[in-house]
Amino acid sequence: MVFTPVLSAHWDESDSFTIEGYTRNRGYEALTKALAMAPDDLIAMVKDSGLRGRGGAGFPTGMKWGFIPQGPEGQGAKPHYLVVNADESEPGTCKDTPFMMANPHALVEGVIIASYAIRASHAFIYVRGEIVHVIRRVQEAVAQAYAAGHLGTDIHGSGYSLDVVVHAGAGAYICGEETALLDSLEGYRGQPRLRPPFPATHGLYACPTVVNNVESIASVPSIVLGGAQWFSSMGTEKSKGYTLYSLSGHVNKPGQYEAPLGITLRQLLDLTGGMRAGRTLKFWTPGGSSTPLLTADHLDVPLDYEGVMAAGSMLGTKALQCFDDTTCVLRAILRWTEFYAHESCGKCTPCREGTYWMVQILERLENGTGTEADIVTLLDTCDNIFGRAFCALADGAVSPIVSGVKYFREEFTQHLTSGGCPFDPVASTVFSGVPA
Ligand SMILES: Cc1cc2nc3c(=O)[nH]c(=O)nc-3n(C[C@H](O)[C@H](O)[C@H](O)COP(=O)(O)O)c2cc1C
Ligand code: SF4
Repeated sequence: MVFTPVLSAHWDESDSFTIEGYTRNRGYEALTKALAMAPDDLIAMVKDSGLRGRGGAGFPTGMKWGFIPQGPEGQGAKPHYLVVNADESEPGTCKDTPFMMANPHALVEGVIIASYAIRASHAFIYVRGEIVHVIRRVQEAVAQAYAAGHLGTDIHGSGYSLDVVVHAGAGAYICGEETALLDSLEGYRGQPRLRPPFPATHGLYACPTVVNNVESIASVPSIVLGGAQWFSSMGTEKSKGYTLYSLSGHVNKPGQYEAPLGITLRQLLDLTGGMRAGRTLKFWTPGGSSTPLLTADHLDVPLDYEGVMAAGSMLGTKALQCFDDTTCVLRAILRWTEFYAHESCGKCTPCREGTYWMVQILERLENGTGTEADIVTLLDTCDNIFGRAFCALADGAVSPIVSGVKYFREEFTQHLTSGGCPFDPVASTVFSGVPA
């Protein structure tokens, strides 16, 4: 299996982010093709391609678009909205940010095509607040698209009009959860909404809304140009196409690698220089810190939705954080749990209280002052949180803990018997790519 650079094909060109660079590489050709098609045919094309949402859950994109009540706006019908989720805040997840820096016009072109397909005349790109440089880059791309006539009134003389707003969030992980994002976009405190009703019928301003991840939407122009069959010829039976895998941690060459779904971590490491010199892989996340940990025994698991689930985890955002044998698994889990406790929006008790108490217990276990009973209490707390909280943040918070105890229980006990952490904290923090 080899790399398949499509989304990342021109990242090495110095002007890849400009409209000139994008247009030179067939940019906005898909838009011309799409505007000549009926919106329903576009939805059918995306359905046939097998594209699944790249924001974590892997929901089929075309099917999501198809849930929007169809028919023209006006005549008493509510407006439709497209909202792009560019909040990317999950620990380890780092693909949308470099994507928007290197190729923002693919996102803008995807936004126009998707909005046309779902018959929306307003679209929003909700970008994580801290990444000011990305916000500026996307704003500039949108301005260039307006100036070139790809946005605004009567696009390319088609009679279709679209306005796009780039909105800066305020830097809260929970605002990546799609309904919290919608509340935040409306000007409220970002907290998840009760579902049903779902955004497809009652989304932004209680109107039919599609929320899609940056990579999902940015994949659309290539599907329109290459065709559904071309896209679905890559990947595996139920996980089609190419995608960005983000390799980070104790690897020699961290970065974004675009490959067909179904590639394995072993193949990715072989192609990119492997773990840092003299070290072996100890544990890794297949899709960010919310996905259960896997170990070196899982190097040959196909990195598609079904393969990773069969191995007891989730593909998530394909953020492959690799930790070598110098890493204390308790310390890594404690850091992630501190993040979830900080980012819990506080709306529901299991998550608000549970994440706080999990941090307290993990601190005791990590510094060697805990007991065997603490491990039992920790797992019991996880059990009382998982599936009992209002949104998936809480399920994600328990994932590293439960899987960590499952694979490394001996290491938990070792901390207790040795009265502290047996690992050298410096060895594991040497910067990626620098042999220890
Ligand atoms: C706590 C939390 C944070 C999330 N953060 C993001 C995010 O930053 N970006 C994203 O695309 N999806 C995020 N999601 C998933 C979204 O709720 C939603 O499923 C996704 O935007 C749908 O897009 P897709 O179908 O294109 O994947 C998050 C979910 C949860 C529970
Ligand atoms: S699970 Fe956590 S983040 Fe989600 S609504 Fe409840 S308190 Fe908020």
